[in-house]
Amino acid sequence: MERLQKRIAQSGLMSRRKAEELIQKGQVTVNGKVVTELGVKVSSKDRIEVDQKLLLKEKKVYYLLNKPRGVVTTTKDEKKRKTVVDLIPCSERIYPVGRLDYDTTGVLLLTNDGEFANLLMHPSYGVEKIYLAKLKGIIKGSSIQTLKKGIQIGKEKVYPTKVKIKKVDSKTQTSFVEIALQEGKNHEVKELFKAIGFEVIKLTRKQYGFFDTTGLKSGAYRPLTPKEVSKVYALKMKKKK
Ligand code: URA
Repeated sequence: MERLQKRIAQSGLMSRRKAEELIQKGQVTVNGKVVTELGVKVSSKDRIEVDQKLLLKEKKVYYLLNKPRGVVTTTKDEKKRKTVVDLIPCSERIYPVGRLDYDTTGVLLLTNDGEFANLLMHPSYGVEKIYLAKLKGIIKGSSIQTLKKGIQIGKEKVYPTKVKIKKVDSKTQTSFVEIALQEGKNHEVKELFKAIGFEVIKLTRKQYGFFDTTGLKSGAYRPLTPKEVSKVYALKMKKKK
């Protein structure tokens, strides 16, 4: 059972807010009866009509994008910048699973399946994200140890699950560090390095769970296979205690 406005929004016809508006205006019927309350719950067997048109459930779709730089991770941008959704032509109302900064590249999943997105994003499933960060300056092992012990970011302490120096370039005075995290806070990687005195000058997400960008050029995308989708749903069995 789910709320009527959520079910209407899932059809891909309109946002949840718009659905609420139409319900309150008396333009929605459930099994032939007008419903004007917002708390009503419906099941998949209920016949819902919006403006006398029968509501069909939107097909669930799943994509993996190799996000390029200079694209916003949102569905609509106030400043009219290009969004990740603009890069995937499809008729369903897809949205990104989590977010990557405007200048961050790499693995980004997009879907219209809320449960799928939640399985990947909710901390209780502990899905690991692996990033490669290019830093200004030369990093030493002692800084890596500090990161591994956990860093306070806002109200929470973040514990990277892996941190590894991949390359140090004394000529350009830059370092490359691979870092794995299970949380998904905004600007997390940049904040972690900032806390130990390093600026991130380039950031790529190499992996999100078992997804990577193999075979995808920057800006390219592909649909997920049914096997990949099932593998994400199998996370339900592996919930962390
Ligand atoms: N951490 C960041 O700082 N930026 C991203 O885009 C992703 C994780």
